[in-house]
Amino acid sequence: ELVVLDYGSQYSLLIARRIRELGVYCELMPATADVSEIAARKPRGIVLSGGPHSVYDDGAAGLPEGLLDLGIPVLGICYGAQLLAHSLGGKVASAPSREFGRAEVLVEGESPLLNGVESRSVAWMSHTDHIVEVPPGFEVFARSGDGLVAVIGDGAMFWGVQFHPEVAHTAFGRDLLRNFALDLCGCAGDWSATSFIENTVEWLRTRIGDRRVICALSGGVDSGVAAALVSRAVGSQLTCVFVDNGLLRLGEAEQCMDVFARHLHMRVVKVDATDKFLGALEGVVDPEEKRRRIGRSFMEVFEEVAPTLGDADFFAQGTTYPDVIESAGDSKRHSSAAAKIKTHHNVGGLPDTMRLELLDPLSFLFKDEVREVGRSLGLPEEIVDRHPFPGPGLAVRMTGAVTRERLERLRRADHIFISELRAAGLYKHTAQALAVLTSERTVGVLGDARTYEDVLALRAVDTEDWMTADWSRFSHDFLATVSNRIVNEVPGISRVVYDITSKPPATVEWE
Ligand code: XMP
Repeated sequence: ELVVLDYGSQYSLLIARRIRELGVYCELMPATADVSEIAARKPRGIVLSGGPHSVYDDGAAGLPEGLLDLGIPVLGICYGAQLLAHSLGGKVASAPSREFGRAEVLVEGESPLLNGVESRSVAWMSHTDHIVEVPPGFEVFARSGDGLVAVIGDGAMFWGVQFHPEVAHTAFGRDLLRNFALDLCGCAGDWSATSFIENTVEWLRTRIGDRRVICALSGGVDSGVAAALVSRAVGSQLTCVFVDNGLLRLGEAEQCMDVFARHLHMRVVKVDATDKFLGALEGVVDPEEKRRRIGRSFMEVFEEVAPTLGDADFFAQGTTYPDVIESAGDSKRHSSAAAKIKTHHNVGGLPDTMRLELLDPLSFLFKDEVREVGRSLGLPEEIVDRHPFPGPGLAVRMTGAVTRERLERLRRADHIFISELRAAGLYKHTAQALAVLTSERTVGVLGDARTYEDVLALRAVDTEDWMTADWSRFSHDFLATVSNRIVNEVPGISRVVYDITSKPPATVEWE
């Protein structure tokens, strides 16, 4: 319903997300998109994101030719506002001082965009350039505490705001975006998991017809929800493949079969490939080499089972919106991106011989929306609320070589950590929690004897985007409970440490 044109702001995806939270479907398109591509989406309004440039920079992206003639409302944010003003005959200049961070916004007069906004409000700014002259027919509807232009508009179609309504620090940001999307653009605000499911099921039925689909289940939320959607659309035309690579967590393979095959009655072919994967990983210590070998093994397993799956035409996968955005190069955003296998899934691509068309039913959803859709499709909460788990599994959660014995040790420790998190009601409040078996051994005492055993690290992070993350501040008592249980219940581990590093500089996983 709305399109956000991305001028390269770190917040572009966040704008789309905030608009979706209002029940308004929204997609990101590159600022370089052709106006015919934009019009093809039949948007009810356009948002121009912020960006790192000045409108006077060489090579700074302008407005797509003809955008302002589409006859739909446009809201420019920060750079977007300056660009709009500049394009319509206003003037932009470098400000005497940078406005960065919290700033006061003083509302002047009445405008539908600021309907319901207090006359003195707080907004988040981050800019050097600002609008010094509004275009003909425009008015200033708010200024910052320093008297700089904060909101402009022609009263109906074109609007510009100098601050960032999408960030939580802009207290009235949500109201402003709602005013724009619902009142000015006329969106209904009824986009929801249910409407998404209806539309997608319809689309999948048309696309698939009477042909067949295969889907690789990993036990994670994304592939599970994608499979459940396809199953809702075409039922028995779907065959799922679940590869047990021996690198999964405790009970994960059984749970996955239980939910999808027994509970949801989907056709799931389970391949036990533990020996193959562990064979390929023997003696391998380098994390990237582990990933490569796992990718190759997945590919070989697929080649082996392909003949037993019947003639499929499609391969469904759980690529989500952030995956699409991240894996696309800037210039190629949204064009070839969706057609690419989620590379960091480490499925390593499909064997060439399979020649399947890709189906990405979740490629426009954020993680929390995927979860919502999963719930509506009847997936159990333990699958839906699950933390992300890397494709290469426990192989990249142990430094050093992968052996059955070490996997068993890590599995038991991880299970204790996760069960305790769930029992304490903390699981849903942390974005990702994991145990890492280090290749370090340290001295300990057990009874009267000296031991020399493994060090286990616990890691938990709070993050929304996984690009930056902070370590979760659990209470010492909680950490003590987990540590005691692990050293008492898991033979071979006699020391537990908690990782207190943020990302960056550290990553979430240890490998
Ligand atoms: P890092 O460690 O890069 O992790 O901070 C960010 C997120 O990505 C996940 N991750 C992976 N997922 N295959 C995956 O499917 C991988 O090789 C991989 N490496 C990291 C990680 O679990 C976290 O959610």
